[in-house]
Amino acid sequence: MDLVDHAESRFREVADEVRKYLGSMGITPAHILPVSARHGDGLANKSDNMPWFEGPTLIAALDELQAKPLPVELPLRFPVQDVYKFDERRIIAGRIESGRLSVGDELLFSPTNATARVKSIEAWSVDGPVMSASAGQSIGITLDDQLFLERGHVASHRSEPPVETNVFRARIFWLGRSPLEVGRRYKMKLATMEHTVEVQAIEQVIDVADLSQRPADRIERNEVGEIILRARAKLALDSFVDNPRLGRFVLIDGYDMAGGGLVSMEGFPDQRARNEPTSQNITAVEHRVTSDARWQANGHKSGVLWLTGLSGAGKSTLAVELEQALFRKGWQAYVLDGDNIRFGLSADLGFAPEDRAENIRRVGEVAALFARAGILVITAFISPYREDRDRARSVAPELFHEVHVKADLSVCEGRDPKGLYKKARKGEISDFTGISAPYEAPSAPELEVDTGALSLNESIEQLLGYVEANFGLNGRD
Ligand code: ADX
Repeated sequence: MDLVDHAESRFREVADEVRKYLGSMGITPAHILPVSARHGDGLANKSDNMPWFEGPTLIAALDELQAKPLPVELPLRFPVQDVYKFDERRIIAGRIESGRLSVGDELLFSPTNATARVKSIEAWSVDGPVMSASAGQSIGITLDDQLFLERGHVASHRSEPPVETNVFRARIFWLGRSPLEVGRRYKMKLATMEHTVEVQAIEQVIDVADLSQRPADRIERNEVGEIILRARAKLALDSFVDNPRLGRFVLIDGYDMAGGGLVSMEGFPDQRARNEPTSQNITAVEHRVTSDARWQANGHKSGVLWLTGLSGAGKSTLAVELEQALFRKGWQAYVLDGDNIRFGLSADLGFAPEDRAENIRRVGEVAALFARAGILVITAFISPYREDRDRARSVAPELFHEVHVKADLSVCEGRDPKGLYKKARKGEISDFTGISAPYEAPSAPELEVDTGALSLNESIEQLLGYVEANFGLNGRD
């Protein structure tokens, strides 16, 4: 503070910046203190140079700090450390990271989603039966059902499960000898689980000296960055702000601990949403008309051409042009378009990650129905999440063709056909893809149409060529 003449205004400025930065990580500082070591201002004694500051001295602030209580009040997280067989009992051992569990509780295991009740709690060197245990305790439990369980699975109560996802954001502190880079794989250790994760993107690197942020494609030693990590399988974890015990991890590069990270699910949906139907006692009905019969009658095969890409990349334009061109040739083709669907079928949904996931789930189902009815469906949805597109594919994998309508963000923003980028930049639209929400480009689409490089006609030619090659009936086209 002596360097700025103990100026209150400068202190407030810096304090605001720091508070904002910490706030973005979900941390509320107990105090931000103006001090100067030179003459001991604000350290042990109140400073005469800063009469405007009413907070405590550094020493007083340190005295106020209290050890954190164990997180017993948080939802139950019991990561499985190991499964032991003792006589006829199978004991699931681990440490309760948060919350509490009791004999008789129904436990949900993630990511398998299996459930069973706690039959007993086996504690070491205690007399009498143990009926409950809580955060911080290492215990073994037996269940009333023989589930497939292994190290890394996490038990919770059904009402408050951890997030299930294979992609998430992380704030990372990098200590590795070689820099962290996009595309590289690292071993991640989170609670008792170990998984290989790939760096999908580096969103920004933060200079810890002045808190300024810059885009970058690598994070050097001792730098802090915000990255997106992707695993092959679904993991059970929590955002750090919700549950620190399951929201932090380390990355291993080779044999070295190379970085520590905090999980944030901001911008990504929880993938726990069940795929299984809620109804029971339902049986599928078989059609008498086969797909092949419909294709012969229509003179072409059916399927789903799934156009994905940024807003303004040209999805809707290409979709309706292609629909018209195919219709002229006598084909049964129909466009399902994002904006249109959001007036009706998805009128109840917005753009939060969970809403987009549900939007794409519905459209994936509807598109598959149309395709099974013999129609060539052309969909035009941003569909920014790979996981959601993969789910849409899984409804009818043999009919699904993913088309990446590709154009750089700068190109799309330059076109800005609906003026939405401008609004998003001004902060008037939240969760806007490319600006304040992620777009995960397909890694292996069946087709890529580069509208940044091709004219509309060239793009349509490319699409028509693809459609004829893949949906034409031999000899009939
Ligand atoms: S998706 O992410 O769920 O696939 P969808 O394709 O249905 O999105 O809708 C995108 C259209 O909604 C865009 O073309 C744009 O016109 C409009 N829109 C309004 N708000 C947003 C937003 N926050 N992000 C993206 N598109 C938006």
